[in-house]
Amino acid sequence: MPVTQLREIAPAARLENVRYAIRDLACIADEVARQGHKILPLNIGDPLNFDFQTPAHMIEAVYQAMRNGKNGYSSSSGIAPALEAIRGEAARKGITNIQDVFVTSGVSETVDICLTALLNPGDNLLTPCPDYPLYSAVLAKLEIGLNTYYLNEEDGWQPDLDDIKKKITPRTRGIVLINPNNPTGSVCSRKMLEQIAELARQHNLIVFADEIYDKLIIDGGAENDPHVAMAAVAPDVPVITFGGLSKNYLAPGWRIGWGVASGEASVIKPYLEGVNKLLRSRLCANHPEQYAIKPALEGPQDHLIEVKRKLRSRRDLTMKWCAETKRVSCVAPRGAFYAYPTIDIPEGDDVFVTELIRQKYVTVVHGSGFGQRPGTKHFRIVFLPDEKTLATAYAAIGDFMRERYK
Ligand SMILES: Cc1ncc(COP(=O)(O)O)c(C=O)c1O
Repeated sequence: MPVTQLREIAPAARLENVRYAIRDLACIADEVARQGHKILPLNIGDPLNFDFQTPAHMIEAVYQAMRNGKNGYSSSSGIAPALEAIRGEAARKGITNIQDVFVTSGVSETVDICLTALLNPGDNLLTPCPDYPLYSAVLAKLEIGLNTYYLNEEDGWQPDLDDIKKKITPRTRGIVLINPNNPTGSVCSRKMLEQIAELARQHNLIVFADEIYDKLIIDGGAENDPHVAMAAVAPDVPVITFGGLSKNYLAPGWRIGWGVASGEASVIKPYLEGVNKLLRSRLCANHPEQYAIKPALEGPQDHLIEVKRKLRSRRDLTMKWCAETKRVSCVAPRGAFYAYPTIDIPEGDDVFVTELIRQKYVTVVHGSGFGQRPGTKHFRIVFLPDEKTLATAYAAIGDFMRERYK
């Protein structure tokens, strides 16, 4: 007689706090799409969903690697030409005192490994609010409570230094800085980086500098790139700089990211042994795709000119709509492809977003999915779609707001 399992298999209780609003909303969008409506997706930061293409020479490099039999495991840190190219790129950004470099399956895995290698029960890590939700998801998995610091909307979404100071406790081990920022599109000033570095020195913190969008600065020209790497202003401070192919190099599906560890050797080395233990235990990052890293970082960068031209035009269109629309205002994003307008509405931003999908088939993400100061409401726009799609989406959001809020 067959045995039937009667009791349900429950997920671990610690997952209660794992939220990923960006993908969670996609479930509602799928439901609306199944009813036959065409969704305007302004919610997922994947350039390949729109008119952007992975540079051909990178595809060729991966194809050749596969043809040349690079289909087994690689070493746990990554292949030598990739590591050398990442070091070279870090040096071009002014990062010195490099102690280690490693390749991972996307920055997502770098984050998972770096946080896991650092935190003991009872420790805390400063993360921005609003933040990219991966950080809080990994912390929930590690059963580490959140210790968030605010980004200051009145100050162009720069980190609120006073709030950071207030939030540092004896158990604070590090700080996460997302620059350029998701979801606000802000870019940190050099002065701000220096001040955060000083706090890291005083309180013995490691800095996780998520700079995955560092080549997508849309203020200034292609030749006038104002992004300053955190590690470059603080060669003595332990910093892990996160980068990858997903955004700058338009290959998110390849799942290639990396970490560059810098700082005083005696300070950071013991921690890096922990990181390497975890790198070894997950074997390696995707192998053939690693062959695209060197051509990406050292080959032609022409695609960036075109990408930034499109992003600038789409950012400007977004800002124009925000300026013209009642109840909406927005700090102009300076990097990446996100805008984070504030909305003045008599209901929660989660309701706003859900009803917007159901009634007008436009998907954006609610501010409460990223965190925000109490009493404020926002939504995140991904302005990757072409101008025509954006204009249609903004007209629909405008109609929705007029109809709903009078
Ligand atoms: C700030 C930030 N960090 C990390 C990631 C994850 O990147 P990856 O595709 O390399 O895992 C994203 C993706 O949107 C992001 O916005």
